Amino acid sequence: MNSPYLATLFAILVAIFFSKNVFLGAESATLSTDREALLSFKSRVSMEQPNVLSSWEPNSSPCNWTGVVCNELGQRVVELDLSDMGITGSISPHIGNLSFLRSLQLQHNRFKGTLLDQLGNLLRLRIMNTSSNSIEDGLIPSELSRLRNLKQLDLTINNLTGTIPPSIYNMSSLVNLAMASNDLWGDIPNDVGVTLPNLLILNLCINKFTGTIPGSLHNLTTVQVIRLADNLLHGTVPQGLGNLPDLQMYNIGFNKIVSSGESGLDFIASLTNRTRLRFLAIDGNLLEGVIPESIGNLSKLNLSYNSISGQIPQEIGQLEKLQMLGLAGNRISGIIPSSLGNLQKLNDIDLSWNALVGRIPTSFVNFGYLISMDLSHNKLNGSIPKEILNLPSLRTFFKLSNNFLSGPLPQEVRFLQGVGTIDLSGNHLSGNNPMSIGMCKSLEKLFMANNMFSGPIPDTLVEVRGLETLDLSSNQLSGSVPPDIQNLNALQLLNLSFNNLEGEIPTGGVFSNISRVHLDGNPKLCLYSACENSGGRGVQLILISVIITIAVILTLCFTVGLLFYIRKGKAKAMASFDSSKGQQHQMVSYYELRLATKNFNQENQIGHGSFRTVYKGYFREGITIAVKVLDTQIIGSRKSFFAECLALRNTRHRNLLKLITSCSSLDFKNMEFLALVYEFMSNGSLDDWIKGKRMNVDGGGLDIVDRVNVATDVASAINYLHHE
Ligand SMILES: *[C@@H]1O[C@H](CO)[C@@H](O)[C@H](O)[C@H]1NC(C)=O
Ligand SMILES: *[C@@H]1O[C@H](CO)[C@@H](O)[C@H](O)[C@H]1NC(C)=O
Ligand SMILES: *[C@@H]1O[C@H](CO)[C@@H](O)[C@H](O)[C@H]1NC(C)=O
Ligand SMILES: *[C@@H]1O[C@H](CO)[C@@H](O)[C@H](O)[C@H]1NC(C)=O
Ligand SMILES: *[C@@H]1O[C@H](CO)[C@@H](O)[C@H](O)[C@H]1NC(C)=O
Ligand SMILES: *[C@@H]1O[C@H](CO)[C@@H](O)[C@H](O)[C@H]1NC(C)=O
Ligand SMILES: *[C@@H]1O[C@H](CO)[C@@H](O)[C@H](O)[C@H]1NC(C)=O
Ligand SMILES: *[C@@H]1O[C@H](CO)[C@@H](O)[C@H](O)[C@H]1NC(C)=O
Ligand SMILES: *[C@@H]1O[C@H](CO)[C@@H](O)[C@H](O)[C@H]1NC(C)=O
Ligand SMILES: *[C@@H]1O[C@H](CO)[C@@H](O)[C@H](O)[C@H]1NC(C)=O
Ligand SMILES: *[C@@H]1O[C@H](CO)[C@@H](O)[C@H](O)[C@H]1NC(C)=O
Ligand SMILES: *[C@@H]1O[C@H](CO)[C@@H](O)[C@H](O)[C@H]1NC(C)=O
Repeated sequence: MNSPYLATLFAILVAIFFSKNVFLGAESATLSTDREALLSFKSRVSMEQPNVLSSWEPNSSPCNWTGVVCNELGQRVVELDLSDMGITGSISPHIGNLSFLRSLQLQHNRFKGTLLDQLGNLLRLRIMNTSSNSIEDGLIPSELSRLRNLKQLDLTINNLTGTIPPSIYNMSSLVNLAMASNDLWGDIPNDVGVTLPNLLILNLCINKFTGTIPGSLHNLTTVQVIRLADNLLHGTVPQGLGNLPDLQMYNIGFNKIVSSGESGLDFIASLTNRTRLRFLAIDGNLLEGVIPESIGNLSKLNLSYNSISGQIPQEIGQLEKLQMLGLAGNRISGIIPSSLGNLQKLNDIDLSWNALVGRIPTSFVNFGYLISMDLSHNKLNGSIPKEILNLPSLRTFFKLSNNFLSGPLPQEVRFLQGVGTIDLSGNHLSGNNPMSIGMCKSLEKLFMANNMFSGPIPDTLVEVRGLETLDLSSNQLSGSVPPDIQNLNALQLLNLSFNNLEGEIPTGGVFSNISRVHLDGNPKLCLYSACENSGGRGVQLILISVIITIAVILTLCFTVGLLFYIRKGKAKAMASFDSSKGQQHQMVSYYELRLATKNFNQENQIGHGSFRTVYKGYFREGITIAVKVLDTQIIGSRKSFFAECLALRNTRHRNLLKLITSCSSLDFKNMEFLALVYEFMSNGSLDDWIKGKRMNVDGGGLDIVDRVNVATDVASAINYLHHE
C-alpha cells in the first residue's frame, strides 16, 4: 500500500472518530438543553399542590421527572404530559427547545397567556393538546403550520380569539382538529376536505364561525365526526352526506342552516344505511320539511327547534337503538304514533312545543330506561293514562304542561319515585289532588297550576323533604294550609294563589319570607291572630267593654299589618323572579361518562370497593368529577344504587359529598349501566387520611384536634341523615 492511500484511510478513521464524538457530545448537550427548557418552564408556573413537580431537580436527569418521557436511549425528551396537575402560569418560550418532542399534553390546567410562536419549532410533534386552559389574548400562531407531523391538535375550551390562520387548514397531516368552545370567527374554507385529506375528527363547535358548511367535508370518505354546532353558519346542508361510510356523529345544531319544501329533510333519509352513525343533531336551525320515514339506526336524534312540519312517522319506532329523541319546538302535528313505545332503550324524549293532538299512547309504559319526558305545549287531550306514570326510571323531569288533558291524576303517580320535576300545569285536570303525589320523594319542583284540582292540599306533600318549588295556584283547592309546610326547609317558592283555601296562614319556615309565598285570591285565608275575630259567641255583658277595647286594638294592629302586607306585596311584585333556572339533577348518558373517564381508563381509577369502582373524570365544562360505577352483575348493587340516589338527591349538608348527577343506562354492550357522579374532592379519601396513608405538604398527617373535628363532622352528617 502506498502512503497517500494510508493517509486517506487514516483521515477517514479520524473523521469517523471525531464525528461520532461530536455527535455524542451534541446529544448530551441537547439533553441538558431539554433540562434547561423544562426548568425554565417550571420557573414560570405555580401549582395548587406545590410538590407536583418536586422531581424536577436541576441535578437529576429529566428522563426521571414527573410527566416527562425520553426516547429509549435516554438522550432526548420526547413526551411531556402535565395534564390535570393544577398548574397556573404561562408557557415558557424555551419549550420550543424541546426539539425531539412528539407529544405535548397540557390539558386541564390553568395556563394563561398566549400560544407561542416557538411551538412551531417542535417539528417532530404529533400530538398537541392544550384543551381546558385559559389561553387567550391572542391568535393561533401561523407558525404551528410548520408542524408537518402533527396529527392531533386540540385547543378546545380556551379563550382563543380571531381567525384560524389559513396555513393551519393546509396541515395535511392532521387527523383530529378540535378548537371547540373558543371565540374564533371567520369562514371555514370550502376546500378544507381537500387540504386536510386525513381528517377523521373535526370539532369547531361553540365559536362564531361564519360562511357555509364546507361541501368538501362531505367528500371526505373516511371522516368519522363532524361537529360544527353553535356557530353562525348559513346555507344548506351540502350534498354527499350519505356517502360517508364511517360517519359516527354529525352535529350542526344551533346555526342558521336552511332547507325548504316538504323534501327539505331528505338528506336524513340518505343516511339510512349508514350503520355507524349514532348521533345526528340538526336542532336549532331554520330547516323546513317533513321527517322522512327512513332514518339511520341512530342512538341520538335531535331535530328540535326548526320549522319541521308534518307528522311523526310511525317508522321512527323501528330505530331500536334510539336513546334520545328530540323533536321539540317545531310545527309537527297529528297524533303521537304508539309505535314510539317500541323504543325501549330511550333515555330522553322531548316532543314539546309542537301541535300534537290526541291521547298520550299507553305504549309509553315500555320505556324501561326513560330519564326525562317532555310533552308540554301541545294539544294533547284525554286523560293521563296510568301506564305512563309507571316509569320508575324517570329521574329529571316529567312534563305534560300546557295541553288539554282532563280527568284526575291517577294514583299511579306514586311510581315516579325518582323524578325531580313534575309539571302538569295548564291543563283541565280535576278531582281531588291525589295523596299519593307525596310518595314522589325525590321531587324538587311540583307545578300543578291552572287546572281544576279540588279538595285539600295533600298532607303527604310535607314529607317531600327536598321540595324547592310548589305551585298549586289557580285551582279549586279548599281546606287549610297544612302547617307542616313550615318544616320544608328547602322550599323557595310556594304559590297557592287563586284557590279556595281558608283558615290561618302559618308563620314559620317559608312563610316567614313574604317574597317566597303567594297566597292572593284566597278570600277566606286570614293572617295570624286575625282569624279568632270571626267566631265570637256567648258574650258576657261584663266583658263587653273589655272585648270592644281588644277589638279596637286588634283592628288597629290588623290595619297596620295589612298596610304593611300590601306594601311588601308591591315590593314583591317588582322583584323579578326566575323560576326556570335553579338546580336540577340532570342525568348524563353512558356516552358522556365514557368520554369523561377516557373510556373508564385504569389510569383514572381512584378507588375500588365491593361492588363499585370509582373513577376520576372531566366533563366538557371543565368540572372534575368522581364517578362511582356499580357492578350490576352483583345482586344487591341495584338496590343500593337507587337507595343511595334517593337518599343523596334530597340531602343538603356541608359534610356530605354533593351528588351532581347519576346515570342509569345501557352500555355499548347493551348491559345495564349504573353510576353516581359526585363532585371530585381533590384531597383524596378520608379513609387514607385517618389511616395516615396521606400527608399534607409539610409531611404531617391529622393531629388529635383534626381527628376530633372529623369525628364531629361525621357525626353531624349521620345525625342529619337519620333525623332530617
Ligand atoms: C432514574 O431513577 C432511578 C431510581 O429512582 C435510577 O436508578 C436511574 O438511574 C435514574 N435514571 C436516570 C436516567 O437518571
Ligand atoms: C432556548 O429557547 C430560548 C427562547 O426561545 C432561546 O432564547 C435560547 O437560545 C434557546 N436555548 C438553546 C440552548 O437553544
Ligand atoms: C374567557 O373570557 C371571559 C371574558 O372575556 C371570561 O369571563 C372567562 O372566564 C374566560 N374563560 C377562561 C376559561 O379563562
Ligand atoms: C385532549 O385532552 C382532553 C382532555 O383530557 C381529551 O378529552 C381529548 O380527547 C384530548 N384530545 C386529543 C386530540 O387527544
Ligand atoms: C397551502 O398549500 C398550497 C400547496 O402546497 C400552497 O399553494 C398554498 O400557498 C398554501 N396556503 C397557505 C395559506 O399556506
Ligand atoms: C366532491 O366530489 C365530487 C366527485 O368526486 C366532485 O364532483 C365534487 O366537486 C366534490 N365537491 C366538493 C365540494 O369538493
Ligand atoms: C339502503 O339499503 C337498501 C338495501 O340494501 C336499499 O334498498 C336502499 O335503497 C338503501 N337506501 C339508501 C338511502 O341508500
Ligand atoms: C336537543 O336540542 C335541544 C335544543 O335544540 C337541546 O335543548 C337538548 O338538550 C338537545 N337534547 C340532547 C339530548 O342533546
Ligand atoms: C336497528 O338495529 C337493530 C339491531 O341491530 C335491528 O334489530 C333493527 O332492525 C334496526 N332497525 C332498522 C330500522 O334498521
Ligand atoms: C281529542 O282531540 C281529537 C282531535 O283533536 C278529537 O277528535 C277528540 O274528540 C278529542 N277527545 C277528547 C276526549 O276531547
Ligand atoms: C302564582 O300563581 C299565579 C296564578 O297562577 C300567577 O299569576 C303568578 O305569576 C304566580 N307567581 C309566581 C311567583 O309563580
Ligand atoms: C326572601 O326570599 C327572597 C327570594 O327567595 C330572597 O332573595 C331573600 O334573601 C329572602 N330574605 C330572607 C330574609 O331570607
